Amino acid sequence: MLKKLFNSSIGRKIAMALSGIFLIVFLTQHFLINITSVFSESLFNWLSHFMGTNPIVQFVLQPILIAGVLFHFVMGFILDYQNRKARPVNYAVFKGSKNSLLVSRYMILSGTVILSFLALHFYDFWIPEMEYKYIEFKPDDPNRYHHELVEKFQDPIKVGFYCISFIFLALHLVHGLASSTQSLGTSNKYSSLIKKISYSFGIVVPLGFCFIAIYHFLSH
Ligand code: HEM
Repeated sequence: MLKKLFNSSIGRKIAMALSGIFLIVFLTQHFLINITSVFSESLFNWLSHFMGTNPIVQFVLQPILIAGVLFHFVMGFILDYQNRKARPVNYAVFKGSKNSLLVSRYMILSGTVILSFLALHFYDFWIPEMEYKYIEFKPDDPNRYHHELVEKFQDPIKVGFYCISFIFLALHLVHGLASSTQSLGTSNKYSSLIKKISYSFGIVVPLGFCFIAIYHFLSH
């Protein structure tokens, strides 16, 4: 059944849409936790400490998340490759979602920028965190998270790169959400509402991430 799903083009599109929606759920909680760093140092520290020490988050959800990111990334390249194979000559005129090759190229470009952002982001936060907890076994300090975060946003070049990546993230989300609702066939009386919510989410969340980065850069 699963093999049949992955062997069909629509099956792969559905898998792509579902993994994208899973990553959006992660992004929403990631945004909600990080925005607290702007208005409450103690709440941010408490939430980060909870997420960073809870065994279910650490040993169940985190590996699932990393697998989800890898799956979405690999599947995106496979879909793009197959679109190109199916239509080797580029379209002369851009016709929005009708030109699936151009749309998929566009998603690959924004996805690649997001992926390079993630490489820097892991280097900034995730790798030091893993070192701190699981390699150096440093003593637990529940108040360290906020100042560690603020320190990362003191370099204007890094803040600039983060913000440019968030603009690409907005493009990726707006396009991705629109095509995922198509792949999942949510074309009914709610589709215009779903479209509006998708567009707002795709713009508001990346702008919010930009705000967090610039806020910490300017306020210290
Ligand atoms: C200003 C914006 C952002 C801030 C301040 C921020 C902050 C953080 C922090 C502090 C961690 C380490 C969590 C830990 O392991 O203890 C982290 C991890 C991570 N971030 Fe972000 N992040 C931002 C934007 C993003 C965006 C836009 C994405 C995705 C496109 C993202 C994806 C991830 C992933 C996948 C991890 C590793 C998984 C995890 O540990 O939860 N982050 N981020």
